[in-house]
Amino acid sequence: MKTEVIEAFAKAYGDSAGVRTFFAPGRVNLIGEHTDYNGGHVFPCALTIGTYAAVRLRDDNICRFYSKNFPEIGVIREGGFANYPLGVVKMLKDAGYNIDKGFDVAYYGDIPYASGLSSSASVEVLTGYFLKELFGLDIENTEIALIGQKCENEFIGVNCGIMDQFIIANGKKDYATFLDTSTLEFSYVPIKLDGMKLIIACTNKKRGLKDSKYNERRAECEQAVKDIGNISFLGELTTEEFEDIKDKINNEVNKKRARHAVYENARTIKACDALKNNDIETFGKLMNESHISLRDDYEVTGIELDTLVSTAWEQEGVIGSRMTGAGFGGCTVSIVKDNYIDDFIFVVGKKYKEKIGYPADFYIVEIGDGPCEI
Ligand code: GLA
Repeated sequence: MKTEVIEAFAKAYGDSAGVRTFFAPGRVNLIGEHTDYNGGHVFPCALTIGTYAAVRLRDDNICRFYSKNFPEIGVIREGGFANYPLGVVKMLKDAGYNIDKGFDVAYYGDIPYASGLSSSASVEVLTGYFLKELFGLDIENTEIALIGQKCENEFIGVNCGIMDQFIIANGKKDYATFLDTSTLEFSYVPIKLDGMKLIIACTNKKRGLKDSKYNERRAECEQAVKDIGNISFLGELTTEEFEDIKDKINNEVNKKRARHAVYENARTIKACDALKNNDIETFGKLMNESHISLRDDYEVTGIELDTLVSTAWEQEGVIGSRMTGAGFGGCTVSIVKDNYIDDFIFVVGKKYKEKIGYPADFYIVEIGDGPCEI
C-alpha cells in the first residue's frame, strides 16, 4: 500500500521526491452503538485496514488533494472527498495551530468505501496526524480526534459523536478500547479470541450519513433529555432510573430511542466486564441483544443488516453477531469459531444474495494500532 500511494502521488503531481507517507486505521465497534452522542460508553477497536497518505509540503498556501480510490475525480482543491481534509485544516487553523504552507497529498484506502467502518474519520485523523508531523504541531492524538469530529459536525454536516475519530487516533493492536464518551476516560481491554475470529460482513448498500436519519436520531434523543428535565445526557441514567422516569418523555418514538440509548450503555459496561472475565459467551449474547435493540427501538438496521445478522444467528459456531457503526446499511460484526468460518461465509453470503439480490463481502479482520508514519 505504501508503494501504491507513492506511485499515486507521482502520477497525480508529476514526481514523488521528498514525500512522506502516513497511515491511519479504520474501526469496528464491538458494542455501544449510538451511545457516544448520548454521553454513554463505547467499545470499539482500530483495524489493520485503513487509509494511507503520501504528502509533500508546498512553498505557497495551496492545498491539492488526490485519491487513488476515486482516480476519475483527479486532483482537486475542494468538494467531494477533499472536504474532509480541508475541514481538518480549517479546524486546526481555527484552533490556533500554525499551518502556514500548503501541501499536495494523495490518499489510498483499503476500507470499503461508505461501509460503516469509518473511512471518513480515518481520512480526518490521518490528515490531522500528518499535519502534526509536517508542521511540528504540539497536539495530542485525542485533540486530533476532537478536531476531526468538529470537521465532521461543522464542515461536513454530520452530527456524529466522538467514537470513530477517538478510536482511530488512539487504537492499540490486539486491544479494544472502553471509552466513556462523557469524560473521554478510557482503558484498553485485551481481545483474546482463542480459536475464534472477528468477521465483518459488508452489506454493500451504499449510504452517506448526511442523507441518513443519523441526525434525526440524535435530535430525538436530545428531545427525550429535554422532556426528562434534570439530566444532560441519557448516558447518565441506569436502566432502573430510566424505568422510573421514562413516562416524562412525551412521545412514544422518542421513548424507544431513549430506551435503546440507556440499555445499550448498560450492555456495553456489562460486555466489557464479560470480556475482562474471558466470558465470551456472555459477550456474544450482549452483541445479539444490542442488534435487537438497534432494530426494534432505534430502528437503524434495515433489511440488509437484519438479513446478515439473523442468518448469522442461525449458523453453528457463531458466538454473537450485530450491526456495527451507524447502521442504515454498512457492516455487521460477528465472532465466529475458526472451524466454522468457511461455512459461515458461504451460507450467510448465499442467503444474503438470494434475499437481497446482490452479494455481501466478508473480511476476517485484525485489530491494529492508531496512526503512524510509515
Ligand atoms: C457513526 C458516528 C459515531 C457513532 C456511530 C453509532 O459511526 O460517526 O459517532 O455515533 O455512528 O454508534
